[in-house]
Amino acid sequence: MDVFAAMSDRQSARAYLPKPVARADIEDIFKYAGQAPSAINVQPWEYVVVYGKEKDRLVQRLKKAQAERKITCGPGTENPLPDIFKNRSRRASAAMAPRIAEMGQEFNPFVEDGSCSFYGAPVAIIVAIDRLFPKIRYLDVGLSVSYLLLAAHARGLATCPIGLVTAYAHDIAEALDIPENKEIILSIALGYADPQSPINRFKTERENLDAFCFWYE
Ligand SMILES: Cc1cc2nc3c(=O)[nH]c(=O)nc-3n(C[C@H](O)[C@H](O)[C@H](O)COP(=O)(O)O)c2cc1C
Repeated sequence: MDVFAAMSDRQSARAYLPKPVARADIEDIFKYAGQAPSAINVQPWEYVVVYGKEKDRLVQRLKKAQAERKITCGPGTENPLPDIFKNRSRRASAAMAPRIAEMGQEFNPFVEDGSCSFYGAPVAIIVAIDRLFPKIRYLDVGLSVSYLLLAAHARGLATCPIGLVTAYAHDIAEALDIPENKEIILSIALGYADPQSPINRFKTERENLDAFCFWYE
């Protein structure tokens, strides 16, 4: 698969087959994630791969935290964003909503419970950065995450970046023994997408070039 096809076809998967992912395939994808550029080549990204019984244990912990604290990211969230951004987010939610309804579920519980269980994916990836770095180095980690998502897609695997669980970063750190000097900034579900699930059969739209690219000549 060429890089352009990977960039256009990749989409977040929110339902996975119970098929395990071979460790060699996971390592292969991380090899590409490690190829991302970074300022003065510091490569500040750190990944914790959680699968098997450890993943089940982490999900139980997150579900407990979610039941106690109920942090939401659905469309009902109070959103201080200007309309231009709010509308993009609403359009994505509106595209997802009928699929979730088709599955007989409600939007917020689907996204919140689903995020906390990595949507049933066999592999959960925790993305961290050492707290000694300034916030601008998040950018470098984001570049590596992009490489990771594209490499996974090119290898026939599916992903979903999941930011919601960072609200429970303390629980994740405790469950996985991640030291205090590491900041957990994202998680990623990884596995084989369930092609039959309605939630995997929609694609979010994107703005045209003139909405985000400005020219001076
Ligand atoms: C930083 C980040 C955090 C995200 N957090 C969540 C999340 O918590 N739960 C979820 O279901 N999707 C999450 N997503 C997935 C986005 O909703 C998705 O990328 C966006 O709607 C565009 O759709 P696409 O990935 O299918 O192109 C996140 C994506 C990113 C990049």
